[in-house]
Amino acid sequence: MNVADTEVVLSIMDGVGYTMTDKADQADLIFVNTCSVRDNAELRVKQRLSELKMHKRNNPDVLIGVLGCMAERLRTELMDKNNVVDMVVGPDEYRKLPKLVEDAYAGQRGIAVKLSRVENYDDITPLRTEGISAWISVMRGCDKFCTFCVVPFTRGRERSRSLKSVVEEVRKLSERGFKEVTLLGQNVNSYHDGENDFADLLRCVAEVDSTMRVRYMTSHPQDMSGKLIETMAAHDNICKYIHLPVQSGSNRILKLMNRTYTIEHYLTLMEEIKYAMPGVSFSTDIIAGFPTETDDDHRLTLEVLKNVRYDGAYMFKYSPRENTKAWDMGDDVAEEKKVERLSEIINIQGEISAEINQLLIGQEVEVLIERDSSRSADDLLGRTDTNKKTLFPREDARVGEYRKVKIERTNAQTLFGKLVCGASFGSSVN
Ligand code: 5AD
Ligand code: SF4
Repeated sequence: MNVADTEVVLSIMDGVGYTMTDKADQADLIFVNTCSVRDNAELRVKQRLSELKMHKRNNPDVLIGVLGCMAERLRTELMDKNNVVDMVVGPDEYRKLPKLVEDAYAGQRGIAVKLSRVENYDDITPLRTEGISAWISVMRGCDKFCTFCVVPFTRGRERSRSLKSVVEEVRKLSERGFKEVTLLGQNVNSYHDGENDFADLLRCVAEVDSTMRVRYMTSHPQDMSGKLIETMAAHDNICKYIHLPVQSGSNRILKLMNRTYTIEHYLTLMEEIKYAMPGVSFSTDIIAGFPTETDDDHRLTLEVLKNVRYDGAYMFKYSPRENTKAWDMGDDVAEEKKVERLSEIINIQGEISAEINQLLIGQEVEVLIERDSSRSADDLLGRTDTNKKTLFPREDARVGEYRKVKIERTNAQTLFGKLVCGASFGSSVN
C-alpha cells in the first residue's frame, strides 16, 4: 500500500518538476512514507529520522517530510520534538504537497492530516517504474474496526474508486507491457463503487488481457462471497492464491478482536474455496499475545495452523496501539510469553511451508519472470500463480515471459529449479 501511495506522491511531485533520486545526498527533498500498524514500524521511522537529523546538519537546505499513517497519528509530536521535520502529511493530503514544499522553502513548516470520506486519487496516474508488475489501489480506508488495529483511525473510512477508472488503468498498463496487477485495499473485498462489488471489478480487470495475471489483497473473511469465489475459479488469469487473515484460532479471542467470524465459519469458508479451486494456496496473518490470551487460546491457534496448512503466514506479536479498543483491555500477556508463543507459531508454520514446498520437487511449475535474482547475476526470479518465489538459471529466458520450471529443491520460502526448454507463452517487456 505504501509503495502504491509513494507512486501517487511521485506523480504529484513530477507535476511540479521534481524527479526521483535514489541517492540521499543528491536529494533536495526527502519524504519518509510511514506505517503505524505496529510499534516496531514506528520505531524504525524514528530511527530513520534521527539519521536524517545528521544528514540535515550537513545539508541544511534539504527539506524533510513525514508522510502516511504516522503523520496522521503523531502529527504534533513529530512537529514539536523533532525539528528536523519540515512537513507532516497524512495519506489523504498528498495533493497539498507542492504547496507545503513551497511554504517550507519560505521557512514555514506545515501539517496536513485531514482524513477524507472521498479522496481516492482517482484522477492521478501513479508514476511507476518500468517493470512487469503493478500495484493498483482500488479502495482506501477500513470500516471493520478490529479492536487491535489503528488503520481505521489513520486511513479513515472506506471509499472505492469507480470500476471504470480501475479498468482503464489496467488497460493502459497492459498496453505498456505490464504482465501482472495486484488490486490493493485495506479491506479490498469490501470494494463497492455504488454499482459494482469486488467480484464485478475482478471479472472486468481479468477480462482486459488474458495474459495478464491478477492478484488482490488484503481480504476480510466476512466479505469473501460465493460470487467472488466463483469469479476467481472462472478466470485462469486470476491467481489461485488468497491471503486470508485469521488472526487467532480461539473464538473467544476472535470476538474480543471484533473479527466478526467464528473459527468454524472461517474453516468452512476455506473448504468452499478449496472445493471451487483445487490447488489454491493460502496465506494468513496471526497475532500472538492479544490481551487475555491464555495457553489454551494459543493452542487453538496452533491447531488451526496444523489443520489448515497454510502455504505461508505473516506472524506478529500483539502491539498495543493507542486509541484502539484493545488498548483499553490492557496488555496483560507478558513479553516473554508473547515471544515464546510467537516463536512456536513461526516454527510450526516454517515446517509446514517447507513440507508443502517439498511436494513440488520433481514437478514442473509455470512462473511469470519478474526480475534478475538479487543473489546471483546468472539467475532469474519468477513467481508461480500460487505466489511462490522461484529461482532458476536464466539461459534464454527474459523478464516478462511465462516459462515452465522443473523444481529441484525447495525451502520454506523459495523454490529452486531449471527451465524446461521451449515452453513459453505471453510476451516479454523490453
Ligand atoms: N499488533 C500486532 N499485529 C497487528 N496487526 C494489525 N494491528 C496489529 C497490532 N496492533 C497485524 C494483523 C493484520 C496485519 C496487517 O497486521 O495481523 O492483519
Ligand atoms: Fe485493520 Fe484489517 Fe481489521 Fe481493517 S480489517 S481494522 S485494516 S485488521
